[in-house]
Amino acid sequence: MGEKRSQWASNVGFILAAAGSAVGLGNIWKFPGKVGAYGGGAFILCYIIIVAFIGFPVMLAELSIGRKTQKNLVGAFHQLNKKWTFAGGIGVLTLFVIMSYYCIVGGWVLKYVWVYLTGGHFGTGENAYQNYFAEFISEPIQPLVLGVVFMAICIFVIVKGVSSGIERVSKVLMPALFILLIAIVIRALTLPGAMEGVKFMLEIDPASISGNTLVGALGQAFFSLSVGMGIIVTYGSYVPKTENLVKSATWICVLDTLVAILAAFAIIPIVFVTLGADGLGMGGGFAFMALPEVFASLPGGTIVGLVFFVLLFLAALTSAISILESCVAFLTEEFHISRLKATLILAVPMFLLGAGYSLSQSDARGINLPWFDFSNGLQMLPMNAVMEKFTDNLMIPLGALLFCLFVGWVWGAKNAAREIEGDGAHKFALKKPWSFIVRFLAPLVIVIILYFTLGRGEGLS
Ligand code: PHE
Repeated sequence: MGEKRSQWASNVGFILAAAGSAVGLGNIWKFPGKVGAYGGGAFILCYIIIVAFIGFPVMLAELSIGRKTQKNLVGAFHQLNKKWTFAGGIGVLTLFVIMSYYCIVGGWVLKYVWVYLTGGHFGTGENAYQNYFAEFISEPIQPLVLGVVFMAICIFVIVKGVSSGIERVSKVLMPALFILLIAIVIRALTLPGAMEGVKFMLEIDPASISGNTLVGALGQAFFSLSVGMGIIVTYGSYVPKTENLVKSATWICVLDTLVAILAAFAIIPIVFVTLGADGLGMGGGFAFMALPEVFASLPGGTIVGLVFFVLLFLAALTSAISILESCVAFLTEEFHISRLKATLILAVPMFLLGAGYSLSQSDARGINLPWFDFSNGLQMLPMNAVMEKFTDNLMIPLGALLFCLFVGWVWGAKNAAREIEGDGAHKFALKKPWSFIVRFLAPLVIVIILYFTLGRGEGLS
């Protein structure tokens, strides 16, 4: 097509867009739940170490591939080494699967925004909140309609383009998200009894660090930073040659981790105050079942609930945009079709797959697609639980492993480091340790973790 390729208009815009991708449901919905499930402070500590020593170097590796080639995920690998084109393909596949459930969960978030806007009525009686949520997700039509709305908003932003769509939206949404989050943290910490929750997060009990904690922390770190599936390759490909990649990656990792920890500081004390420590073990249903119940018991709870779900919506939106964009860039560049066409070609099947999961939860209504029904004991959230495990425990670590091996051994850590240095324009003081991590440490850690999750048969069930 010979058109000039898109670029970010400013480095702040790029950092906010990438942070927008990184900050998502993972930070606000999954992270506090995992902190609860894996023993508080010990998990936070493991998480920070893993982000610094594995997540950050892998992010730099991905950025270097994107910036070097200025190509989409598949095109980038193809340009550097034809035999490795498949690694880009695996990334696209992973993104496809993630987007299929992300848009449905995005629809759920919209539903809750709506409920709070209209007064926050969830019904009364025992288990009212659980029942409300279970009723809602097992309805055949409503979750799908909301999923379409969520997807349509993503499509709208993507079609506008990289700089005037994604960058512009991120520059407004990310600061807004930050302010909303701080507001909830302040509310949470001023509740009587909140310090119990804070103590739980700050106390590090070494006995609670197990293999499971580490596996959980690694999967969470990759998912949360948006690494291991090529989003960062794509976003890196829009970065001008003059920018300092190390600085940008540092900012993205710090912002993402900060938001995750703030989200934990917002949610865990509130849960401690109202439900006690037992309230933490709810996994996926946490945001949709435990929290509304918790908010209802607070003075001003409807407002807190509204703020929380708007926050969750903004976070989900900027992440979903990055997922779709990475696939769209692949289609537009490799098949020379318009952004609109590419977006629709992808969004429709992604949504249909998601609709399949959603309908598989409607058996109460007589609609049951058994091939999507993985509900073997996973109650409440079968599709998320399984899809989440499939992508978090298998596809994403596999992607990260391939990217490391590629950069470390195929394209070569030296070449990648040269790109990171901007051909000598910037200093890359950590070149040696980075190269060691990408070549040896990160692949080793990922293989061990894959072995443990899959080998013990825990990875996919
Ligand atoms: N990083 C996002 C989150 O924390 C999720 C995401 C995954 C975004 C994959 C893009 C790609 O929720």
